Amino acid sequence: MIPHEYIEEVVRRNDITDVVASYVQLRHRGRTHTGLCPFHSEKTPSFVVYPETQSFYCFGCGAGGDVITFIKKINNLDYVEAVKYLAGRAGMAMPEENDKVGRLRSRILSINKEAARFFFEQLNAGNDEARAARAYWRGRGLSDSTIRRFGLGYAPNDFRAMRMHLRAKGYTEEEMLASGIVKRSEKGNVYDAFRGRVMTPIFDLRGNVIAFGGRVLGDEKPKYINSPETLVYKKSKAMFALNIAKKSTSRRYILCEGYMDVISMHQAGFDTAVAACGTALTAEQVRLLAEYADEVVLCYDSDEAGQKATARSLGLFADSPVKVSVLNIPNAKDPDEFIKKFGRDAFERLLNGTSNAIEYKIKKVRDKYDITRAADRVEYIKEVIRILADKVSPTERDIYAGRLAEETDVAKSAILTQLDSAIRSNRRRQERQKQKDLLNEGLGADIKLPYNTMNGERALGVASAEQQLVAAMVKNPDFIPVVEKRLRPQQFLMPDMGEAYGAILSCKAQGITPDLTALATRLPEDTVNRISHLLARNYDVGIGPRDVEMYLGRIEQSAPKSTEAARMTGDELEDYLTRLRQKKA
Ligand code: UTP
Ligand code: MN
Repeated sequence: MIPHEYIEEVVRRNDITDVVASYVQLRHRGRTHTGLCPFHSEKTPSFVVYPETQSFYCFGCGAGGDVITFIKKINNLDYVEAVKYLAGRAGMAMPEENDKVGRLRSRILSINKEAARFFFEQLNAGNDEARAARAYWRGRGLSDSTIRRFGLGYAPNDFRAMRMHLRAKGYTEEEMLASGIVKRSEKGNVYDAFRGRVMTPIFDLRGNVIAFGGRVLGDEKPKYINSPETLVYKKSKAMFALNIAKKSTSRRYILCEGYMDVISMHQAGFDTAVAACGTALTAEQVRLLAEYADEVVLCYDSDEAGQKATARSLGLFADSPVKVSVLNIPNAKDPDEFIKKFGRDAFERLLNGTSNAIEYKIKKVRDKYDITRAADRVEYIKEVIRILADKVSPTERDIYAGRLAEETDVAKSAILTQLDSAIRSNRRRQERQKQKDLLNEGLGADIKLPYNTMNGERALGVASAEQQLVAAMVKNPDFIPVVEKRLRPQQFLMPDMGEAYGAILSCKAQGITPDLTALATRLPEDTVNRISHLLARNYDVGIGPRDVEMYLGRIEQSAPKSTEAARMTGDELEDYLTRLRQKKA
């Protein structure tokens, strides 16, 4: 059991909008965000995120819940795994991890840290090997400060130097093997995994050393040896230099193929360069990137393999909210070589030359018109405004409106006014659509009545009141004491809402806020979905004490009075309810 306080902290530290936004392209709509539902296939968005209740609901498939439910569903995890995932995302320590595993994990991390320090010291030693290694890094154009910043080092050409060093520091052979820094041969001998290679440590987001990549100094094969997967290193989840890039003020990331590209870009001042480590890009890495980047420029090698990787990666970004563009590198095999040959400014020009989707669209429209003619100019402005009114950020709007003004010699204020009214009419259209969708969905049409003994319409009214009442209590726990004085869970007509009310009361008794997070651990998934739905529907509707009073009134009319009910046993109450239902029928 994970303590409830811990789960609350996890939820608090993972804003649902941020989390969802790395899986779903969201658009602002008033106080909510909408997008295409990731849980069923659809062309018009019916998936809504509600920041104020930290919940989501899909009007298309009925999936709903809190941030944990979202992660559980989207990554196919169980509850505990989802909590751990989010805890990791927020940089929180894991809840009571299996002690033995937890201990080994931390031993591996300290072995890695020790090993990185050892490699760095070896690079700076006074022997010929170290001199050659330093000459290698220098030959690749790296400054001392870059070497220090990336913690680069050298693994001496020796089968036991590292093992001896770590043994002296008190690490066991078993721990060393688990870290991947030493290996066991088929004959059973243990030996250092990295020998005679320049070393690049790989860090996680918290700055732990989780793995190494080691490169030969010459042309031997294999060029790189990488750490194996360990308790602390999952290749498909790691991103080289993301620990540095995440501190950048820029949200435009440069994704390269190799360690060397990343390192030389950083040295040239492009501090958002990252790479997948020793593997092809994975969907997990794309999601990870999406948490930090608004835009990713693919900057792979210019050879055939690089171009293939580009096509493949573009596919992975297709479902991501991240804007992706491709940088082709002319006259060099990779970005590292390009920067070396032509300099950082030339690379910057390349980067800025990647045209984005809006510019591309505007340019296409521009080509249709001759803007020296007044009539064409008007049409041109209209079309561009249509482009800018849709799915474009306010800053971009301002920039392109400015450019349009200059280009057409029309006052920017006039263009902004037109743009404003275009945006407003877009919004009105969306509002109308939303209303229509809600109506089509049919208020209450999906309520399944458990009894057919009651007058149908009246029962529907009661059922709907019960739902509203539960939603009201979840939305505003201040209503709970009022309701608790008047109703018992058994008095509910709808068993699922009765159960939900019971769960709300038990939360209250334990001093826990009965939000979706707390309810998700106490109620069946269907019921939680239902409550999410109700919260979604009531998001923009204020529910006041008078509404609560009305719901209570409706429910009490068909349920036994609480004073009478309080004296009854469960069975008697059931009987009473049945009789009451029959009388009403
Ligand atoms: P590259 O061969 O392009 O490496 O492979 P690079 O980083 O540009 O290295 P230099 O410039 O030749 O020194 C791209 C990436 O593929 C992985 C490494 O992560 C490398 O950075 N790789 C490559 C391996 O894991 N093993 C290999 O043998 C080769
Ligand atoms: Mn390369």
